[in-house]
Amino acid sequence: MPALPASPLPRRHGLRELGALVLAGAVPAVRSRTALTIRLSHVVAHQTPKGLALQRFKALVEERSAGAVQVEIYANSSLYGDGDEMQALQMGAVDMLAPSLSKFGRIGFPEFEAFGLPFVFDSTAQIRQVCEGALGQRMLSALGRQRLVGLGYLDNGFKHMSANKPLRTPQDYAGLRMRVQDSRIIAQQMRALGAQPVNLSFGETRRALATGVVDGTENPISNFWTQRMHEVQTDLTLTAHGYLGYAVVAHRDFWASLPAAQRTLVHDALREALAWGNTIAERENADALSALRLAGTTRIHTVDAAQRDALRQAVRSVHETLEQRIGARWMRELRAALG
Ligand code: LMR
Repeated sequence: MPALPASPLPRRHGLRELGALVLAGAVPAVRSRTALTIRLSHVVAHQTPKGLALQRFKALVEERSAGAVQVEIYANSSLYGDGDEMQALQMGAVDMLAPSLSKFGRIGFPEFEAFGLPFVFDSTAQIRQVCEGALGQRMLSALGRQRLVGLGYLDNGFKHMSANKPLRTPQDYAGLRMRVQDSRIIAQQMRALGAQPVNLSFGETRRALATGVVDGTENPISNFWTQRMHEVQTDLTLTAHGYLGYAVVAHRDFWASLPAAQRTLVHDALREALAWGNTIAERENADALSALRLAGTTRIHTVDAAQRDALRQAVRSVHETLEQRIGARWMRELRAALG
């Protein structure tokens, strides 16, 4: 059963503060690397598909390099959160990140938001097909435009809707304030359902639900459970309306600074850890659902075929919007890659 985080989320470092120290020469912009340390920041708990895959990466790197390469993992937004992690990477304050695919839209890659489109994917097997095929690999390479090296994809799973009421039909969403990650497409999905999207970083979400700043949100169950959202949401509706996955990225300068042999070791370890992560994601979400049922805090609802169809119809316009933004040709390629 997934464990709950033992303590409240630690305080994050201020990026502005760090920038000022770098400018004042108090901390070096580029760290000296006697024993190489890779700093990796992410926003979810360790006991999630992403948390576990990245811990496996750390173990493989440290074992295969006999300790010469260390990986420091800052989980749960403990170092940087959604709002500042990309800037921290560009400044060299962290070396690697694993943001959700939808979050790449805001830094100039709207095509990544296709992964967050509602009711497009039926299974993670289909997603693997896209990610591992020519289209997925071209998308990773394109990240070079922002001086990022796209190192691989990782699944979490399918998202479900939560609030303090069941959310089975579009009528149920009317007037609700729903937290969304930073994605125009996901915001539009909520609008199309009649809700008001509220863009909040992941680290702020539980508190916003607890204090009534927002009424509900969407998540794979592993995130819902490990952030203890079940303590502040009475209802979870198993809509499986959209997918949540990640891309692991490094800054180009950091990646180029690695000695070739170590770069290969790190890359191989990451590929292996991500492949393993993709085999455990479904199980982690299933275990989280069992734990949630046992906890008994949250009513769990299903949707029937007619309700799911009504939800699907309500969000059709979201697909057209993305198509207008990224081009019909791109969407045709995605459909072809889906088979
Ligand atoms: C979210 O912001 O809801 C997710 O992207 C968090 C995550 O990394 O799974």
